[in-house]
Amino acid sequence: MREQNRNKNQEIEEILEQMDLSQPAPETEPMRQYWFMKKARELVKEQSEKLGRPLTACTTTFGCQMNARDSEKLLGVLEQIGYQEETNEEDADFVIYNTCTVRENANMRVYGRLGQLNRVKKQKPHMLIGLCGCMMQEPEVVEKIKKSYRFVDLIFGTHNIYKFAELIVTRLESQRMVIDIWKDTDKIVEDLPSERKFSFKSGVNIMFGCNNFCSYCIVPYVRGRERSRNPEDIIREIQGLVADGVVEVMLLGQNVNSYGKTLEHPMTFAQLLTEIEKIEGLERIRFMTSHPKDLSDELIEVMKHSKKICKHLHLPVQSGSTEILKKMNRRYTKEQYLELVRKIKEAVPDISLTTDIIVGFPGETEEDFLETMDVVKKVRYDSAFTFIYSKRTGTPAAAMENQVPEDVVKDRFDRLLKEVQSISAEVCSVHEGTTQSVLVEAVNDHDPALVTGRLSNNILVHFPGEKELIGKIVSVRLDACKGFYYIGTRV
Ligand code: 5AD
Ligand code: SF4
Repeated sequence: MREQNRNKNQEIEEILEQMDLSQPAPETEPMRQYWFMKKARELVKEQSEKLGRPLTACTTTFGCQMNARDSEKLLGVLEQIGYQEETNEEDADFVIYNTCTVRENANMRVYGRLGQLNRVKKQKPHMLIGLCGCMMQEPEVVEKIKKSYRFVDLIFGTHNIYKFAELIVTRLESQRMVIDIWKDTDKIVEDLPSERKFSFKSGVNIMFGCNNFCSYCIVPYVRGRERSRNPEDIIREIQGLVADGVVEVMLLGQNVNSYGKTLEHPMTFAQLLTEIEKIEGLERIRFMTSHPKDLSDELIEVMKHSKKICKHLHLPVQSGSTEILKKMNRRYTKEQYLELVRKIKEAVPDISLTTDIIVGFPGETEEDFLETMDVVKKVRYDSAFTFIYSKRTGTPAAAMENQVPEDVVKDRFDRLLKEVQSISAEVCSVHEGTTQSVLVEAVNDHDPALVTGRLSNNILVHFPGEKELIGKIVSVRLDACKGFYYIGTRV
């Protein structure tokens, strides 16, 4: 067990010790899962005694931060039931792919890697392969796996990930492929174990699902309807994390700006942030993703006065053309977006803005594309994630006429990328010569004499330092800007 997860996982350990496996599994959660964790632990122990060594597990994450956080929960369960973490897939006894389906190429990567895993499994028949995440919520995908990837052991979706221990027991006791996919859920199960990747920072889910139905996007179909966690549960989780040494949290939701609308006692995202700000010992608060249509003046006001909210806002624009935005069902115009950016920059002048942009949405003309370029030039993003439109079966956009030819899209994509990169280098360099707070995250990959950390605005800085600084916030002078990162000196 990693040191930093001690508190929460230790509590669970104590409950597990009290659990009586001769009694049937409890009906209520999370107690039911604790029962299955204890049961799974016995089965894993049996197998590990047969092999004469501990069993190992590897989780591979595709896609967004939401998935990354889910993988930490999977790993939490795996470690509770006796698996040791293994980072090399081919050496693991249990491999789990936590999949993404937001664009077609994410799916292709999973199929490709599954083919490779099959070869490994042939040499190691006791190996287990599990698939979960967004891709599994698509019925055609599951059909394809059932037909052409018979060696997969366990398939589950986004809504029942909390049942992981129970599903493992079902698989180990049945020796056949176990498939459990739910269409939707209104359930949120608290108090499950997790193994965080970083000791000093953590993602925290504040809501699940999405109700926006942007016409290109598959997320509302695979992640289900929007539901918010209770503020008390969120605060309690963050307090626990801080007690474990976390100084920075990233609040996660598909659209954090609509947080709290579905709660029994509704509250706004800005109110939630105000409560989180009060947590002693917590130094930095980040959040993502913000939908421009729901970003309130109240939130801007809270950001303006906050000491802990980072000076960074990810504000996906998707397109600069009001016409295309309408077809995308984004529910704002180009002018409204630019006005929002103006208000934010006025309130928080040193804020760093980043965005997502889709190129080649059906019906996008050269004029529409130039509107997008215009927004990029006007906003001057610190960085932008640019995507080629990918047709997702079942979304309204997939059925739209005028899909843009590939060569046209490619040309626009290249022009956009060039513009984004040149602006981003200019924007990044404005901090040169200043001294700023840096949260040190790691020893530098290429040079062990350097450590790497992040500014409040999310820009990376490399500077001379030792690994003891990891997790600490230190003052660093930004000596030279190298495009999208800085080289600095500790002061
Ligand atoms: N094609 C291309 N990009 C997409 N995104 C979501 N759906 C699609 C799609 N069908 C992008 C959006 C979103 C980001 C997470 O992925 O820009 O903000
Ligand atoms: Fe997809 Fe739009 Fe929901 Fe984001 S807000 S997850 S782009 S539907």
